[in-house]
Amino acid sequence: MYVRPAAATAAAFLGFTLTVLGGTASSAATGPSAATGSTGVLNPVVYAHRGASAYAPENTLPAIDLAMRMGFSWVENDVQRTKDGELVVIHDDTLARTTDVEQVFPDREPWRVKDFTAAEIATLDAGSWFGEAFAGARVPTLREYLDRVQRNRERLLLEIKKPELYPGIEQQTLQVLGEAGWLDADHVQRRLVVQSFSADSVRIVHGMRPDLVTAFLGTPTVADLPKYAQFADRINPWHTTISADWVAAVHGLLGAHGKAMEVDTWIVDDAATARKVQGMGVDGIITNAPDVVREAVLGGFGH
Ligand code: G3P
Ligand code: CA
Repeated sequence: MYVRPAAATAAAFLGFTLTVLGGTASSAATGPSAATGSTGVLNPVVYAHRGASAYAPENTLPAIDLAMRMGFSWVENDVQRTKDGELVVIHDDTLARTTDVEQVFPDREPWRVKDFTAAEIATLDAGSWFGEAFAGARVPTLREYLDRVQRNRERLLLEIKKPELYPGIEQQTLQVLGEAGWLDADHVQRRLVVQSFSADSVRIVHGMRPDLVTAFLGTPTVADLPKYAQFADRINPWHTTISADWVAAVHGLLGAHGKAMEVDTWIVDDAATARKVQGMGVDGIITNAPDVVREAVLGGFGH
């Protein structure tokens, strides 16, 4: 488990290097791929889910700052929209669990993200629920978040969350990405993946920006996989739903960019499960505890 930011151990440095190499090795069209370790087993790319969210409040700037300090280049987030049309980074479609909204706006139940303005959300404390050390952390706008990811030289697995609640959010997300400088060749090829549980949303993003790397969140049947390959490069499933055969079936297909499709699985927070999905051949592991997963999958280093 993560103990202190200053613990830039040899293992941590090695993990960072492998992660970066993984991203560089397949820079054209489909972004990062797992690197082969010294044991011959694939070292999956490790994604810090909602930032280093086991150790800092999810989807906040402190969570991605911490991921950077821990040596992880990839962070995952969730994008939704406020009442007045601002894109913000938050997982739930209500503000109740991860902010102090119930205290600040007691008469606004059920505290839906889409019922609050950006200015109102900006007043909320999104850190104290996690720990007093994070008091004052805010729900970032997507633009604020992108700028911090960029400043940290991190990479982004961006999830369009519940797009059925936010008509047009795909186009708006691409607009903000473009305004923030995230749609140039460097970002598109190496630093950005867009994913959603909504196949329609992924299809829309692919249609608007065919150069972007896209992922569908879910576990389609093997028979249905070819339909997803038309607009996605990745299939990103919950880890409990997959097998080595299923992963191999995904790898056997060419995705939207004509390369073998990849699999990034979630949410894996323990070493045994990390090694299990590594053994299945997944390309990436999305985790709240990236240090635990990195340690587990670095075959030959510490095991
Ligand atoms: O990146 C995969 C994961 O984020 C999907 O589930 O509910 O955490 O957004 P959820
Ligand atoms: Ca997510």
